[in-house]
Amino acid sequence: MSSAGKRFRPLTRNRMGWVSERLSRLSQEFVAYCAAGGCAETPALDVGGGFGVASLAALKAGARVIANDLDEGHCAEIERRALENCTEAERARLTVACGRFPKDLTLEPGSLGAVHVSNVLHFLSGKQLDHGMQAIAHWLRPEGKLFIQAATPYQSPFAAFIPEYERRLAAQEPWPGWLPKVGLYAKHRQMGQMPKAMHLLDDQVLRRLALAAGLVVEQATLWRRDDLPQGLWLDGRETVLLVARKPA
Ligand SMILES: C[S@@+](CC[C@H](N)C(=O)[O-])C[C@H]1O[C@@H](n2cnc3c(N)ncnc32)[C@H](O)[C@@H]1O
Repeated sequence: MSSAGKRFRPLTRNRMGWVSERLSRLSQEFVAYCAAGGCAETPALDVGGGFGVASLAALKAGARVIANDLDEGHCAEIERRALENCTEAERARLTVACGRFPKDLTLEPGSLGAVHVSNVLHFLSGKQLDHGMQAIAHWLRPEGKLFIQAATPYQSPFAAFIPEYERRLAAQEPWPGWLPKVGLYAKHRQMGQMPKAMHLLDDQVLRRLALAAGLVVEQATLWRRDDLPQGLWLDGRETVLLVARKPA
């Protein structure tokens, strides 16, 4: 690889795509919220944190952090990176919670200052999304914030699915982006690095879930996340971003 514009993006160990090695615009907003003291008393939960890029940045910004991932190897990597990159005082604010969100996480109501979920929710079914959003709303403290980024159908590997997705949207189906066999529509050479089922999301579905859980939506928009590989680019709507807040 030549150096210009190309970055090494490590693969997950469990065929759940790639992990970020730098903070996206959404993750930067999450870290800025931590730096402003949003998670100094009540921790931030980083769901599906991968190798911990956002968790470690939040720690360095002064937050208490619960770094979650379902893969034990990813959890070990977060711990290894914390040991390598963080001070003892920063590490004292880190808890690594290995398990599947939402069913394996048990947290007290009102105990979290923020929840960050980057590139994870497109692996959950509709039922898991419903449960997950309700759980997040329950765990957040009043004024606590939720930061989400996920894949939309508007990525080049899913182009063949867009007419069907838009038909489902027009029919007001509740989960228009659910693909139990993603291979039926997506032929991209790297789809082997993704699970068989995917749930492509959009601003309408995430907004509906957040409102149903009693959250106030501050941002819900489609955009192209900064570190999206060029091979996935389509039309600028490749990523959905949602920021929501629990009312006081
Ligand atoms: C594409 S990676 C994203 C990692 C990181 N959040 C980022 O933005 O780079 C997806 C991660 O979510 C984890 N994951 C997927 N479903 C999960 C679930 N239900 N609960 C916890 N972790 C999950 C995977 O193991 C993987 O590490």
